[in-house]
Amino acid sequence: MSSRGRGGRRGFGRSSVVYRGATVGALLTMVAAWLLPRLVSAEDPYTTITPKSDTADDIQFLYKIVFWLALAVFIGVQMVIVWTVLRYRRRGDSDERPVQVHGNKTLEIAWTIIPAVILVAIFIPTVQVMFEADRDAEKGDYVVNVYGKQWWWEVNYARPEELADVWTANDIYIPVGRSVTFNLHTANVIHSFYVPQLSGTMDLIPGHVNTMKVTANEPGMFYGECKEFCGTSHAYMRFKVIAVPQDQFDRFIDGWREGANSQAAALAPEGDIERYPAAFGTCLGCHRIGGVNENAAGDPLPAARVGLAAGSEEYTTLGPNLSMVACRTTLGAGILPNDEEHLRDWLYYPGGVKPGNYMALQIKEGTLSPEQIDQIVAYLKTLAPEGGCPEITGINEEDVLRLADAVPVPAQASEPQDAAVTSPVGVGYIV
Ligand code: CUA
Repeated sequence: MSSRGRGGRRGFGRSSVVYRGATVGALLTMVAAWLLPRLVSAEDPYTTITPKSDTADDIQFLYKIVFWLALAVFIGVQMVIVWTVLRYRRRGDSDERPVQVHGNKTLEIAWTIIPAVILVAIFIPTVQVMFEADRDAEKGDYVVNVYGKQWWWEVNYARPEELADVWTANDIYIPVGRSVTFNLHTANVIHSFYVPQLSGTMDLIPGHVNTMKVTANEPGMFYGECKEFCGTSHAYMRFKVIAVPQDQFDRFIDGWREGANSQAAALAPEGDIERYPAAFGTCLGCHRIGGVNENAAGDPLPAARVGLAAGSEEYTTLGPNLSMVACRTTLGAGILPNDEEHLRDWLYYPGGVKPGNYMALQIKEGTLSPEQIDQIVAYLKTLAPEGGCPEITGINEEDVLRLADAVPVPAQASEPQDAAVTSPVGVGYIV
């Protein structure tokens, strides 16, 4: 190049410009091809690129349309930029400025019509998919009410009617291959329900029930998160939709109704598994156990105490229903693995694990003595069916705890925990 000198480059021809433009374009494409798989992984449980329901498939189809159109626009624009830069670059002091053009009717019509056509090409299938997803959304084979709490998910099976007594939290069991309607409720702030492999996002709005319908085509564990900022521990408001074969779903329902298993007899007064150890009485201020364990079932709390209007139909407990809690995959809505060690951490100092949560208002660091924690942990471990928990197989089955152990747990805190006071709805919820 240097041997040609400045003057030599004046002869830089059209074909050479095209050649260089193509070279730069090819390089950009190679970089993108290297980078893209590193940004998105089909292995990520929150991935959107491996849809497992028809709804998620449709959304993926829209992504693809937008992706390829955006890629074509990107490459087109970059090529024009590169061509312009090379073609009209300053080649020497004696270079004249290229002709300056203001206004070009052909170009302006072109760059109005082309984007309009692209937008229409995106708009039509988008509207089709939206209507398709919305069609008969309330007519699922199963209907599940989901209540957004700060910061966990309360779950009630509304239909079939014989399941209406079943309340649980954070792990949402559904039968694989059956359509499930999720009715999304909240009585506090706005949350958003998002299970990328199964559906798009849908907001939970106070005073309004949104509805979405989902059919999991394969068994597996599908990770979900709250996708709307909702306060201090928004990032710790995870959940799972667990799609299981019908027999395992029935096992979940039956197990839920069983209450404590026979191991509880060793802990209970007079060896009665329907009784709970004294320390667990503290928990019943906010939690309930459904199923046959009527002693621990209790009445719902007065609506006013949980900040609801009188007569509200919302379920009125402050904490998750603990029936079958030993089978939950995580503690604290997807933060901790549900094992003995982490259960102890949680009971010792809930505010340190999940800042701002309501349990931290009642249970400060050290509120429960080591003996009480022993009693409660031992009892909670008995809240599983005699025949074992439902089997989770399929998508992400290796992975039950993978995300849960990503959050570091402070073993001890030097200061008493006050984080609950920072909750946006605050102490008023409790008192
Ligand atoms: Cu609930 Cu963010």
